[in-house]
Amino acid sequence: MGKDWGSLPWLMSMLICLYTLVVWAGRKSPKLPPGPKGLPLLGSLLELGNRPHAALATLAKTHGPLMTLRLGLRTVVVASSSDMAKEVCQKNDHALASRFAPEAIKVDSHDQYSIAWGGISPLWRNVRRVSTTHLFTKQQVESQEFLHHQKVQQMVGIIEKDCAAKRAVAIRRVAFLTGINLLSNMIFSVDVVDPEASEFKQLLSSLGEELGRPNVADYFPLLRHFDLQGIQRRAAGCIKKLHQIFNEKIEERLRFRESGQPRCGDFLDILLDPIDAKGSKFSRAEILSLIIELYFGGSESNSITVEWAMAELLHNPAQMATVKQELSEKVGHQRAVEEADMDRLPYLQAVIKESLRLHPPGPLLLPRRADATVEIAGFVIPKHTTVVINVWAISREARTWENPTTFSPERFIGSDVNYKGGDFSFIPFGAGRRICPGLLLAERIVQLMLASLLQSFDWELPLGWKPEEMDMSEELGFTLHKKVPLEVIPMKKN
Ligand code: HEM
Repeated sequence: MGKDWGSLPWLMSMLICLYTLVVWAGRKSPKLPPGPKGLPLLGSLLELGNRPHAALATLAKTHGPLMTLRLGLRTVVVASSSDMAKEVCQKNDHALASRFAPEAIKVDSHDQYSIAWGGISPLWRNVRRVSTTHLFTKQQVESQEFLHHQKVQQMVGIIEKDCAAKRAVAIRRVAFLTGINLLSNMIFSVDVVDPEASEFKQLLSSLGEELGRPNVADYFPLLRHFDLQGIQRRAAGCIKKLHQIFNEKIEERLRFRESGQPRCGDFLDILLDPIDAKGSKFSRAEILSLIIELYFGGSESNSITVEWAMAELLHNPAQMATVKQELSEKVGHQRAVEEADMDRLPYLQAVIKESLRLHPPGPLLLPRRADATVEIAGFVIPKHTTVVINVWAISREARTWENPTTFSPERFIGSDVNYKGGDFSFIPFGAGRRICPGLLLAERIVQLMLASLLQSFDWELPLGWKPEEMDMSEELGFTLHKKVPLEVIPMKKN
């Protein structure tokens, strides 16, 4: 029997449906912050180019310090001022502390065990607590002073050979290798890499390159199954090989422990121990994921910071002269500079701060994700939106920084501003519950590496280049590095 379109109940339900539809369609969509309209489907993807932090800073001048971008099918809110960074990392830190994880890191569910890419979960809290307690507290970092000194002196030894041969040194490379060997000793009590030739270093660098490549699958989730650019496959290859290397070390240690040998007392021993009174332990996948990220965080950002600081000093001879004078007055040349000297080297510290201000290794930090809908400055940021903080733009804000693009360590002399997460105009390590846990370690290592490079050698640009001829342009991969790697010739001190 056909429907009786004229019957009252049918008519009523149709009217109710229609009313609901009209109300739903006419309801005010949450008021996202303003932003560029972008192209259909692609949104603003093509506007980002290969320096997205700079492109976003330019867009923020038109659309404001809190703006919304559509990048493919993703909605991204960008905070570009210290006030907005404070809103995200302090006032709404709880709701905005999850992460948006790129597809490339999702191999074998790596992201779910990850300290850097995982959301806030009991596992993340445990991993962060254990790493902080056993690696990153002030006490722990101080207790490793001898190791830091030893590894940095090994670096100086390697450079001495280049010095004798009048060979240029790739600063980022030597600093990277030093960082890797330092972490290897903290985690496994051995050097993992042969400083001259290392597949291990190559694997870490390649993984960084894949993570830094724009991946269409991050913007169009359906495409992740096709891996059109091969990024996921290549990243998976690196992660699998790194797992292999670390698995061998872990198996070796388990055999060692089973045979009743004394503990090595390193971080691997801690990771293999129970983590609570009930005897729970980290799984193998969790341990592998943490180790990869410690290596990654601990070598890449440190080495980039040392490279930028050296590049800026060579580019600015007056500042180079000041820092060298401070070193020779306060430490001299009779003994190697030590961590205990750092309090007497305020200009050296200011050089590092100024390098981090102009060249933050993570110019957009790591992307956050809203776990709940929040309101900021009268705008609504819906649950699951990606939230990015443009630290690069913030540390060049003209209202905070005089001559923001000039390299001037002097601005930090006599100033209380620091990067510990309380000054939202200067957060190269992030802020809030996601702040870099390796901050204290990084601070010590970067200071010691830079001071040792400057104390042990004079540096010359190759091919008779003048400081003003140096190419200081930057390139964003996973981190913001110098586009042309710094290669300089170490000279014996007169
Ligand atoms: C100059 C050196 C370094 C810089 C500039 C730096 C910067 C950063 C930044 C910007 C973040 C993201 C913060 C956020 O999203 O709010 C981060 C996270 C992280 N960093 Fe560092 N970092 C450095 C050195 C290190 C070192 C030495 C380690 C460890 C050995 C390390 C381990 C980590 C880890 C594990 C995370 C993830 C934390 C989380 O998401 O909860 N970093 N770092």
